[in-house]
Amino acid sequence: MEDSEDDSQLVQRALRRDARAVHVVRVETADQMRAALAGGAFDVVLSDWTLPMFSGLEALAVLGASGHDLPFLIVSGSVGEEQAVAALRAGAHDYVLKDRMSRLGAAIDRELREAEKRSAGRALAGGIAHDFNNILSVILSLSQMTLGDSELAPHLHDDIDQIRVAAGRAADLTKQLFAFSRQEVIEPTLIDLGALVRELDRMLRHLAGTRSELVVTCSPSLGRVRAERSQLEQVVVNLVVNARDAMRERGGKLAIDLAEVVLDETFARAHPAITPGGHVRLVVSDSGCGIPADTLPRIFEPFFTTKGPASGTGLGLSTVDKIVHDLHGAILVDSELGRGTSFAVYLPRAITPLAA
Ligand SMILES: Nc1ncnc2c1ncn2[C@@H]1O[C@H](COP(=O)(O)OP(=O)(O)OP(=O)(O)O)[C@@H](O)[C@H]1O
Ligand SMILES: [Mg+2]
Repeated sequence: MEDSEDDSQLVQRALRRDARAVHVVRVETADQMRAALAGGAFDVVLSDWTLPMFSGLEALAVLGASGHDLPFLIVSGSVGEEQAVAALRAGAHDYVLKDRMSRLGAAIDRELREAEKRSAGRALAGGIAHDFNNILSVILSLSQMTLGDSELAPHLHDDIDQIRVAAGRAADLTKQLFAFSRQEVIEPTLIDLGALVRELDRMLRHLAGTRSELVVTCSPSLGRVRAERSQLEQVVVNLVVNARDAMRERGGKLAIDLAEVVLDETFARAHPAITPGGHVRLVVSDSGCGIPADTLPRIFEPFFTTKGPASGTGLGLSTVDKIVHDLHGAILVDSELGRGTSFAVYLPRAITPLAA
């Protein structure tokens, strides 16, 4: 992604110097980049940082939405420290200054190796999840059949039921692994998060259980967000299940609130994934146990759980975090020990709603 033909030649010369056969497609706008990604098999994306009509950040978004996991390197004349940090946080893999072009070859090689590792990891996770699921469906159906057998000795009933429950949890875990490893291209549509939460209402009440009271509030004119429905469902369901678990002992109030907010420059500086402007905010809060200060920094880590291996996989929040990141949003958590926790998810609003 480069608007100057001269600079593009500079990059190509640097690559050919290492005796590489390179085929370069130069794009200057988001549409061109989308078309190029859809049409060709690429190894790497090299991107300038600021162009009159396009930017490195937007190029990262286009790449993310395309579903391709390609190394993304910023190649720019001037990358300030702040920009470099913003680029890396937004998902760029490295940056090379135009007057240090000799670094480019090595940087690309390293990122290609990393991308290969990521893809091998995904294939492995996906393959294991698949095999696991087949085995689990055998355990699940046999335990269900046995439970339905009228000749089953009563004292075995509970044990078999435990096997069924455990296999069910393991099946849930493989679903999360599938989500983690999924390689299919996500097809985002415009989604009304308020409508989605209303449609999930029955299931959410069921999930919240009898010990917590679920209250949903939604501002009347909520903008749409561009996402795949299952992504948003996963976000809502994971946050609600966590809130329920936090209130398991004492019960309490579980609140879902949807509102439209405008995020300013100050907010965007603190959260580099955020572009200032209209956002839809989803808050899921509970009056549960709260999160201890020493645990708080770890809750988004994959496989981090305080619930013990039998009931938590620790993939809930890391999945939520990844989805929110992919959608160019932010997630904030506020928690007070013994009083409760609230998660606020900010997602960019796709279009301005019509005035009511
Ligand atoms: N609402 C909450 N209140 C208190 N602690 C929470 C809350 N949400 C998350 N946590 C803490 O963060 C940890 C990680 O959450 P995460 O959803 O990633 O995994 P999990 O709920 O333990 O397992 P899983 O969601 O995979 O079944 C939890 O184990 C818990 O300690
Ligand atoms: Mg969870």
